[in-house]
Parts: sequence; structure tokens; C-alpha cells
Amino acid sequence: MSFPTSEQIDRAAAVIRNGGLVAFPTETVYGLGANALDPGAVERIYQAKRRPATSPLIIHVASFDMARQLSSRWPETAERLAHHFWPGPLTVVVPKHPRIPDIVTAGLPTVGLRMPDHSLALALIRAAGVPIAAPSANPFGRLSPTSAEHVREALGDRVDVILDGGSTRVGIESTVVSVTGPRPLLLRPGMVEAAEIESIIGHIDIAGGHTAGGAHVSPGMTPRHYSPRTKLILVADGRLPADGRGAYLWLKHPAPAAQGIAMPVDVSAYASVLYDVLHRLDAEGLDWIAVECPPDEPAWAAILDRLRRASGANFA
Ligand code: TXA
Ligand code: MG
Repeated sequence: MSFPTSEQIDRAAAVIRNGGLVAFPTETVYGLGANALDPGAVERIYQAKRRPATSPLIIHVASFDMARQLSSRWPETAERLAHHFWPGPLTVVVPKHPRIPDIVTAGLPTVGLRMPDHSLALALIRAAGVPIAAPSANPFGRLSPTSAEHVREALGDRVDVILDGGSTRVGIESTVVSVTGPRPLLLRPGMVEAAEIESIIGHIDIAGGHTAGGAHVSPGMTPRHYSPRTKLILVADGRLPADGRGAYLWLKHPAPAAQGIAMPVDVSAYASVLYDVLHRLDAEGLDWIAVECPPDEPAWAAILDRLRRASGANFA
């Protein structure tokens, strides 16, 4: 991998301006980007991912001004969160400005905004001169990509350009918090922890279950998400399935399996490698992937959330 040149970034920016799709790295996962102000371009994102039209997209910005211009109201809480966490892995949901096409937000009156902490992503947005709508660059419901190779394997010819920035640092998707209601609401846990957010804006509610209306307001609305094809099970104390060939991602309790993988005990290091390990194992035709349940502690909330979704109902 050699870091893209400014000419390559300019070419990718021109593709965005002309209504095309560019996959690009952020600090969390790779995004599949299009001009957020061009409904036809955004439609191509949904087609490429086979994503239901009820699932809203995050818009990526390169400046606070760009964010404010995309909202019809920019609450004080949004300002504080942006100041503290941007650029970084926090998406802030605010009331949407009418200039944003409805397709971007799946018809919702709100929009998720974030300024990614990645020089390539920021350079692309600046060169394009428009905000970039981008979901994770994977087919709907599958694991998010943390390398350009993952994007190539899963979406390849459905993307006009893939900017290769190597492996992503954070490794799981951004924290999503809404400040549109009377009280801030955590819609998706991420590596920016709830407690950190509370230290900036005070108490936040934690979303759970379904909301009224057609559009999904968080990935929690779909029962399975972020899934490998191979059956994934969460296990405690090294109790592995008796049958079949499998892999075991352990933290504290090693146990014999066809493939044993010692996962980092540090939360950030764990998040950073998790999807890459799952992508790799998923290609091996195993009968199962067992993952030792991480500690039920706030620091592990986002990882536990992703593992639960990936396992569907397969708890052991
Ligand atoms: O880290 C990330 O957030 C990555 C990178 C590429 O930025 N993006 C990402 O996008 O994970 P995606 O589309 O896979 O997940 C975004 C989630 C959606 O599933 C949606 O539920 C929530 O953010 N979201 C977006 N707009 C929203 C809105 N207006 N109201 C509530 N939730 C929203
Ligand atoms: Mg996604």
C-alpha cells in the first residue's frame, strides 16, 4: 500500500462531484461515499450496498461550518460535542436542513453528521468541496471493512474508486448520539464512551428497542447486523461447541480449537483488530467462530454490542 497522491485524491474528488462512488478510509471503518447533495449519487450507494431505503446515512464534513449548514437547528449540545470530539469517531444527529435530499436521511427530519479523524477522508471532502454521505463500505448487514482489501472483496466493481489508506485505526463504527429530542440519546455505542459524552453534555439516555415510524434510527433496529457468514457464537469460560471445525477468539480462557486466536486484552487494541480477524476467518469455511464474551463493563459496551449483533441469537 502506498498512500494516495494528491493527484489521486483530486481524481477521486472529481468522481464525487460527477455523481460517482468513492470508497475511502476513516479512522473507524471504510466508507462508501457520494455527494450528499446529489440524490442520484446517493441512490447509487443504496444500490451498491443493497441497503434498504429505510436506513439513513451519515454525512461526513471537513469543517464545523459545513456541519452547521447541513442542520436547520444547531443545538448548543451539538456545538459542545463537535468541539470536544471532532474530528473523531462520534456522529451527532441534529435536525436536517432542507437542502439535504430526503434519500440521505431515509425521509427522517434529522441527519447524522461527523468529521472523521483521518487526513485522507478530510482531504477528499475538501477537494470535492461538498459534504460526503457515506455508510460503511460493505454489503448491507455484513461486517464493516477495515482495509481497502475488504472493500475490494465485498464491493469491488460496484465502486468507481477505492482510496487505500491501509488499515483503519479505531476498527469499529462511530458512536451515534442524537441531540434532537428533549434529552440526548445514545443510538449506537462506539469507542467514544457514554460516560465521556456525559462529561461534556450531562446525562444521556440509552436507546433500546424499536421506535415508531418507518425508518431505522439506529442499526439496533435490524436484528442482525455486522455479521460474518460463518455462524458466530459468544461463549463464556472456554466452553466451545463439541462438533465441527472452528476458531476461538479468546481473552482469558484459552481452549482447544482448530484455530485459537489470543485477542488483545486492551479494549482499543481489540476493537482495532476485531473485524479484520473476523473477515479473515470468514473466508476459511469453518463451521463456527466462537468468541469469548468480553467483560460486561462500560469500556467494552461497543464491542459487546457488535458481537451480540454478529451472533444473532447464537449465545452459548
Ligand atoms: O464510523 C462510522 O460511523 C462509519 C464511517 C464510514 O463513518 N459509518 C457507518 O455508517 O457506520 P453506517 O451507515 O454503516 O451506520 C450509520 C448508522 C445508521 O445505521 C443509522 O442507524 C445511524 O447511523 N444514523 C444515521 N443517520 C441517522 C439519523 N438521522 N437518525 C438516527 N440514526 C441515524
Ligand atoms: Mg454499516
